[in-house]
Amino acid sequence: MKLLPWMAFLLALFVLSACVLQDDSAERQAELAAFAPVQTMLEKNCVHCHGDQRLSTMPSIHDSKALDALIREGGWVTPGKPEASRLYQVVSFADQVPGAMPPTGHAIRRDEKHVLSEWIRKGAKVPRGRSIRFVVRGEIPRSS
Ligand code: HEC
Repeated sequence: MKLLPWMAFLLALFVLSACVLQDDSAERQAELAAFAPVQTMLEKNCVHCHGDQRLSTMPSIHDSKALDALIREGGWVTPGKPEASRLYQVVSFADQVPGAMPPTGHAIRRDEKHVLSEWIRKGAKVPRGRSIRFVVRGEIPRSS
């Protein structure tokens, strides 16, 4: 058996798999970076109540897979249309409107609302692959 063709074959395989893996992780890094502001917004404003300990009737926002499931379910997030997405509607309601989120007072900053609406407008993309667990960031926002 000639060794050289085998070695060449193995080398080619190695280079190819390295390229594929590299490409994959670069793609994921880009997806993670694009999603980061949305994740931060949810972690600062929603995950406190919509995490693991939520009521069963509440939409689950505890990780990226759960968010993806909401998008697939329909109604919660309509890619391309923030105004038709319940997740954005409840955030854009005025304080006194029943169902405004968070229910503790509508203290979400304007730029954070913008992050959510732009993400939906641009197709509501959630990083593929391994699910990202959302953590609670800071106190639940309250309007004094
Ligand atoms: C202080 C706790 C709390 C926080 C913070 C909170 N929610 Fe909620 N959310 C609730 C509760 C409780 C319900 C169930 C209310 C009901 O069924 O009337 C709910 C229900 C919802 C619903 C479904 C009800 C509907 O009207 O469609 C959506 C969508 C929602 N929340 C989105 C959000 C988003 C987005 C955020 C972050 C910006 C958020 N919530 C932050 C407690 C919270």
